[in-house]
Amino acid sequence: MVNVGVLGVGTVGASVVKILEQNADIIEARAGQKIGVAAGVVKNLAKERGLSITLRDNPLDIVDNPEIDIVVELMGGVEEPYMLVKRALQNGKAVVTANKALLAYHRYELQALAGDIPLMYEASTAGGIPIIGALRNGLSANHIESIQGIMNGTSNYMLTKMINEGVQYDAILKEAQDLGYAEADPTFDVGGFDASHKLLILASIAFGIDAKPEDILIEGIQNITQTDVAFAKDFEYAIKLLGIAKKVGNGIELRVHPAMIPLSSMLAKVDGVMNAVMLKGDCVGETLYYGAGAGGDATASAIVADIIDIVRGNTNPMLGYKKPLESGLALLSRAEITSHYYLRVSVEDKKGVLAEVTNLLSGLDISIEAMMQKPDDDKDECVELLFVTHECKEKIIQDAIARLEKLSVVVGKVGMIRIEQ
Ligand code: HSE
Repeated sequence: MVNVGVLGVGTVGASVVKILEQNADIIEARAGQKIGVAAGVVKNLAKERGLSITLRDNPLDIVDNPEIDIVVELMGGVEEPYMLVKRALQNGKAVVTANKALLAYHRYELQALAGDIPLMYEASTAGGIPIIGALRNGLSANHIESIQGIMNGTSNYMLTKMINEGVQYDAILKEAQDLGYAEADPTFDVGGFDASHKLLILASIAFGIDAKPEDILIEGIQNITQTDVAFAKDFEYAIKLLGIAKKVGNGIELRVHPAMIPLSSMLAKVDGVMNAVMLKGDCVGETLYYGAGAGGDATASAIVADIIDIVRGNTNPMLGYKKPLESGLALLSRAEITSHYYLRVSVEDKKGVLAEVTNLLSGLDISIEAMMQKPDDDKDECVELLFVTHECKEKIIQDAIARLEKLSVVVGKVGMIRIEQ
């Protein structure tokens, strides 16, 4: 019998217990041994959870317990789980974690510490979709060229509602929280941070690149308006919060931001809380992975798969490399990213304003591909100028936005969404 200890028995932890019991036949056949949860740790022992397992409130009762073979970490947060996972590994225990924030900050230290002890994390990225296994094992013969994914279900749910039903941003955030997919602090979802953690994990496996959230471009969906949605529809785009990792020369672009993507693309069809990740390799070409990115049973499906893999004797290196990649790839600076851009500029509706705005753009060598003007529904005597630019560098567009916002005829902030062709 293999004994599992679970740190943090919430929705996902309870699903792990349930799946190990409910699917015990197939799990034992696949793992070659019986697997059960011997104990779980919760903050509040008084709360009734309807679980048959022993509950404790001290994580060390699991991490230091010689009877426990595998520690499953589902606590959330960064520093406390880091300390506990380190201690579990030092005690020789295999670890399974769903904690993307922990890995976004400490995956390389944990890999060094784990050595040959299995440390698995399939559930950390895109929930039930086996994307880590696909990238680390299934595509290991490839140089990965790009990753493009919808990796945050909450934001995708909100954008889907804003686009399909015209719902305003504020109204839909509450609904997304009630559905139980959002992080405890929903800023992590709507601000792009949750997706950035997942992207960084995938980028390490794909490119051997070490970066922290602070090192990369992260923007959320908070500033998207119904004007942007209507424009996207008119020009046959969907708006999605994308995590993008792209090889450009010897560098890697890493970024998370809302993007307009052609309605005809496969990612544009991924709606609601679903996640999807498109991986492109030099041998295999494009591959697409779709499924539930959150939720108790879907996430627990990935956790239990990791547990089975450990029991079978998995010896995969944690991030997929037995030795460092010699032709190491460097992270490109945000300023060097190139894209087409959509700009929304609210201006006073008077003579010469359009010329002033377009002169500013052409003075920075920004070429306009399309333009539209519409009344500003929120501001009297203002119109919104909507532009699509030809490809230009991020540093130029950021300069243009800063200068536009200083013009006396421009009212409020300039909206910007990158366009991925
Ligand atoms: N808050 C995350 C999401 C949960 O909405 O996708 C899964 O990581």
